[in-house]
Amino acid sequence: MTTSPRKILVTSALPYANGSIHLGHLVEYIQTDIWVRFQKLRGHECYYVCADDAHGTPIMLRAQHEGIRPEELIARVHQEHQSDFAGFAINFDNYYSTHSPENQYFANHIYNELKAGGHIITRTIRQAYDPVKEMFLPDRFIRGECPRCGAKDQYGDNCEACGATYAPTDLKNPVSAISGATPIEKESEHYFVNLQDFEPMLKEWTTSEALQPEVAHKLNEWFEAGLQAWDITRDAPYFGFEINDAPGKYFYVWLDAPIGYIASFRNLCNKKGLDFNSFWHEGSQTELYHFIGKDIMYFHTLFWPAMLTGGHFRKPTAVFVHGFLTVDGQKMSKSRGTFINARTYLNHLNPEYLRYYFAAKLNNKVDDVDLNLDDFLHRVNADLVGKVVNIASRCAGFITKRFNGLLADKLHDPALFDQFIAEGKIIETAYEARDYNKAVRDIMALADRANQYIDEFKPWVIAKDVSKADELQAVCSQGLNLFYVLMSYLAPILPVMAEKVEKFLVAPLNFEIKPLLNHEIKQFEPLMQRVDQKQIDAMLAASQENLTKTALPTAKPVASPKNSPIAETIAIEDFVKIDLRIAKIINAEHVEGAEKLLRLTLDIGEEKHRTVFAGIKDAYAPETLIGRMTVMVANLAPRQMRFGLSEGMVLAAGPGKKDLWILSPDTGAQPGMRVK
Ligand code: 2FM
Ligand code: ZN
Repeated sequence: MTTSPRKILVTSALPYANGSIHLGHLVEYIQTDIWVRFQKLRGHECYYVCADDAHGTPIMLRAQHEGIRPEELIARVHQEHQSDFAGFAINFDNYYSTHSPENQYFANHIYNELKAGGHIITRTIRQAYDPVKEMFLPDRFIRGECPRCGAKDQYGDNCEACGATYAPTDLKNPVSAISGATPIEKESEHYFVNLQDFEPMLKEWTTSEALQPEVAHKLNEWFEAGLQAWDITRDAPYFGFEINDAPGKYFYVWLDAPIGYIASFRNLCNKKGLDFNSFWHEGSQTELYHFIGKDIMYFHTLFWPAMLTGGHFRKPTAVFVHGFLTVDGQKMSKSRGTFINARTYLNHLNPEYLRYYFAAKLNNKVDDVDLNLDDFLHRVNADLVGKVVNIASRCAGFITKRFNGLLADKLHDPALFDQFIAEGKIIETAYEARDYNKAVRDIMALADRANQYIDEFKPWVIAKDVSKADELQAVCSQGLNLFYVLMSYLAPILPVMAEKVEKFLVAPLNFEIKPLLNHEIKQFEPLMQRVDQKQIDAMLAASQENLTKTALPTAKPVASPKNSPIAETIAIEDFVKIDLRIAKIINAEHVEGAEKLLRLTLDIGEEKHRTVFAGIKDAYAPETLIGRMTVMVANLAPRQMRFGLSEGMVLAAGPGKKDLWILSPDTGAQPGMRVK
């Protein structure tokens, strides 16, 4: 490398500690990870830090719902997130939590500096308050009837039925989603950051190289609309950091979330002895980049630079904004099975397929990225298996069998090799600019060129003529050297395959490529399998099955000290609506492609053939169920599932998996009996 190494710190947005990582999240982590790996392969000093975003009302309530302390919830989710990220080869240098001493220190520090600079103002505001739960209610925890179309059970800020947006106070018959109580209005004093103090700095920052043009444009709209002071406090009860000089007041989760970038890096510095100040102090010359989604631009392009400036830290070199993920052209959907969790994907498919596919789709714009599952299958099979791996598999066997693994001592076509190296500069530029789509196109054009070379010289034909051993060795060595270059270029995208190739070629993959001549390689092992449609189908089926398990509660039960809290109280009028019947299982069978479901045919007296899909496969073999009685909810609205229509719900007791019980066989119950 000619230039001196750069010092670069990179972050991805911190995922909330109350939900699973899904493919939508992975667009960003894969995008960032590729960029970081590229920088490291170029020899730069680059660090990638992230953390769980562990504070806020939803996390507090989720923990209550599960009957555990928030600390237990965030510790469990931290493990899950780390294992999901590792599954996709996301290589953080540090993965921390915002619920950390470092973060508490920096949150208070920045707040103190903002206060000392005169940027904190106080205002008394009126807010919805749950008189039963004794807490202020965030908008999303107020439900009621839409003021425009009257749809029931809508969120406090928008209607899912007609799309209207409104203030929670506009809802008709509002209720707290936590206790069901009617909210009252209550006053409280809040602290605000006076964002207008930072407007000149923000305007100047917007015109620097820090933002993509479409993001800078959005900022200008916000400037025109006028910057509002930002409310940074929440009242108890709240899971977060209590403010040092304001007992009972907590920092709003979005105050300490981005500070988590600093805290995670501080924690890394403590572990590795790195120089913290050179990355964060005001005037620092190192580079700092944040990768984020378009939904959190406001926080990162206005609040965050203001907080950093007020706290006397440096500002980001750039914020890189990406769009959302769609699947088959539509928003991810739980009912279509396209809301796919990272773990569900990993249970069925190789993570590098997705890394490659996203890379092939990503550019440096804020555009959405579409995962088209047919295209995904076709592209991975055609490009990675059909083009790239194919080069090695067409050449390696001859080198192993006929030349004891030794490559020729000179290139058969040095000009072609040089062309591959020259193209590297263009590919590097594309990576640097996050234009991975271009990098992939260029790499695949080279792969086509390498395959043409092999087609032209046909090693399988030369191999038949024993007098042409030298030519066979030369052609196969050339092919493998071209493969070496291609895999070096693909290494940021396909780190797992790259590692296998390093072992196979006994050579490092990076951007300083020298031809492998007179060099011994190891035996070729298969590098990647083709994607099979069945794997995709099984993943979609499993995602649909996850539906009921992953739904986050919107209405919370009263906290109970036991592990399994008693659910929210319902009125007797609600209870009597449920028609519970004894059902006889007259048939039970496996469902093709479903991991947990059985298809049951039920006799409920007046109806003899109700079909219900039940997630009890781990607990019962289908044949053991036939003839047994169970209780079912007979008047549940039918649900269209991937496998067919489910016309009710079977009741079973127990924590799940193998431990689920339906009625014992000798209850004396008869089909159709009401259960009271
Ligand atoms: O939107 C989110 O998922 C937030 N948890 C992102 C936080 S990013 C940073 F500011 F911490
Ligand atoms: Zn409406």
